[in-house]
Amino acid sequence: MHFKIIAAHLAGLLAVASAKDSRTFAVNHFYGKGPLTEGRMDPIISPGTASSHVHAIQGGSNFNLTMENNALLDSSCTSSLVEADKSNYWTPTLYFQDPSNGSFISVPMFYMNVYYFFEPTDDEIKPFPVGLRMVSGNNSLRTPPPGGAANVLDTNAGTIQPVQWTCPRTSYDPPSYPANSDGLYGVGIQDPNNAGAGAGFPDMNCDGYASPLRADIHFPSCYNPQAGVDAYESNMLFPSSKGTTGGKMNCPEGWIHLPHIFYEVYWNTPLFADLWEQGQGWQPFILSSGDRTGYSLHGDFIAGWDEDVLQKIINNCDAGDSGMDKCADAGPINNSADSCNIPNLVPEKIFGVLEKLPGNNPPTGWGQGESASSPSQTASTKSTTSVPPVSQTETEVTTTTVSATDSKSTGWSYLGCYSDNTSTRALTGIQFADLGIGKVTSTGCMEYCNNAGFSLAGTEYAGQCFCGNKLEGSSKLEADKCDMKCEGDASQICGGSSALSVFEKAGTAASKRSSAHFRRHVHGKHS
Ligand SMILES: *[C@@H]1O[C@H](CO)[C@@H](O)[C@H](O)[C@H]1NC(C)=O
Ligand SMILES: *[C@@H]1O[C@H](CO)[C@@H](O)[C@H](O)[C@H]1NC(C)=O
Ligand SMILES: *[C@@H]1O[C@H](CO)[C@@H](O)[C@H](O)[C@H]1NC(C)=O
Ligand SMILES: *[C@@H]1O[C@H](CO)[C@@H](O)[C@H](O)[C@H]1NC(C)=O
Ligand SMILES: *[C@@H]1O[C@H](CO)[C@@H](O)[C@H](O)[C@H]1NC(C)=O
Repeated sequence: MHFKIIAAHLAGLLAVASAKDSRTFAVNHFYGKGPLTEGRMDPIISPGTASSHVHAIQGGSNFNLTMENNALLDSSCTSSLVEADKSNYWTPTLYFQDPSNGSFISVPMFYMNVYYFFEPTDDEIKPFPVGLRMVSGNNSLRTPPPGGAANVLDTNAGTIQPVQWTCPRTSYDPPSYPANSDGLYGVGIQDPNNAGAGAGFPDMNCDGYASPLRADIHFPSCYNPQAGVDAYESNMLFPSSKGTTGGKMNCPEGWIHLPHIFYEVYWNTPLFADLWEQGQGWQPFILSSGDRTGYSLHGDFIAGWDEDVLQKIINNCDAGDSGMDKCADAGPINNSADSCNIPNLVPEKIFGVLEKLPGNNPPTGWGQGESASSPSQTASTKSTTSVPPVSQTETEVTTTTVSATDSKSTGWSYLGCYSDNTSTRALTGIQFADLGIGKVTSTGCMEYCNNAGFSLAGTEYAGQCFCGNKLEGSSKLEADKCDMKCEGDASQICGGSSALSVFEKAGTAASKRSSAHFRRHVHGKHS
């Protein structure tokens, strides 16, 4: 409902009792042992079947693979402290991928909060209609938000950016994200307005007191009743500050302004702090979907509120962080020492040490091919990628051929495909050299390392460049372990999974012997 125009015309005559001049809020807290349930369940995106990835779900116990719109109201219990809230709230879960062997280990949820913000608006804020389905965030994303890492929650302020990761720490020195990270190579981007948050995963352990790594998801608050509660792809919009003052946010005419909900999901990442090296431009956590970037973070919601209770909370409660259960109008609060839990309706192993993510989701994102595996598995599956065998009889590459591509790489030669350990890198002079977004090539990496005064250059995972003067803790691999096309030039090879295409500056040993490989790596030619 949108009373702004009426209010402007009748100012002084008609009080718009429902409009709000300042924000009030109340945090919905959960209780019990872990979330309501975890498993490959998603009645919005994958009704009636196993969903593609594991979710952690909170709220009403009638959560199921298929849900009728009013099914939640009959839940026998809810993991929300407020009994009148039988809604369901869910997000993907988090795994740790052990850098020493590639196994996945489930990261326990620490806890979850859902903020209910009642923002300043000229509209009347109404409760969620029962059965309303919403999804925020995009499960397909593996690249940084185009508008940057900061949240954008106002359709008048640019492209909406609703999700972030927050890394609470006792000190932000060094920062949680490398300065000037472009978010394309192993680590996300810090929010320019908030040292504690960013888009994509950080590369530091989040050691804030009782506050480990946190997934943050804002939901839109404008509902189009014409679209209906089921139409999750089109029924919601973020509000707009257009034409308003005082920080008010309004919905379009004919739409209904609902509470703005915000999920905070804390994951117990400090359990793994000793198992990876921090501040090195990469990190070991991976979403249950196989996303190693964190950009695909998303949340889902089905409303199961007693609408009368929620309307009273909207109108009268500003309990803030002390919790919605402290609102005078919240109704019965469940103080049970028991826990409201239901079984995983897609029975399979999802906790503990796993060799594959449930649903068999391959790791994706950050320069890894669709079939790429863990940082240090030189996966045998990689050799199934179609790479013509390298001819050993290829003719000698000439200096002019090389310089036609890049004069600075003249005088460099291919040394071979070498293993790289993501916790102890083989080339340590410069790690993740910044060659620009999507621009990494083997020739470009050689030029970069040459200019920086190094004698070795190595490319890895299609989009990473390293420089150094010696290879440490690395051994030579089969040639076909280096089989990924460079992001900046598909005719060149840029290493593989935990495999470096290593190049050496002329004048050092062995620079003559691998010219055929060199030619294949920098020109992609096969005879
Ligand atoms: C889920 O739905 C099935 C089929 O309708 C039903 O048998 C089952 O009891 C439901 N599970 C829960 C936890 O409500
Ligand atoms: C990588 O290095 C770490 C630390 O030195 C070591 O524990 C681990 O076994 C190594 N992994 C591989 C695959 O060599
Ligand atoms: C990888 O290491 C973890 C933790 O050290 C261990 O639990 C797991 O069994 C190992 N996986 C393999 C395949 O050895
Ligand atoms: C989600 O992201 C993918 C990949 O960038 C894009 O193609 C798609 O349009 C996005 N979906 C929505 C609903 O924005
Ligand atoms: C309170 O919570 C317990 C544990 O989840 C549950 O068994 C019980 O039914 C709940 N009581 C009410 C009135 O919802």
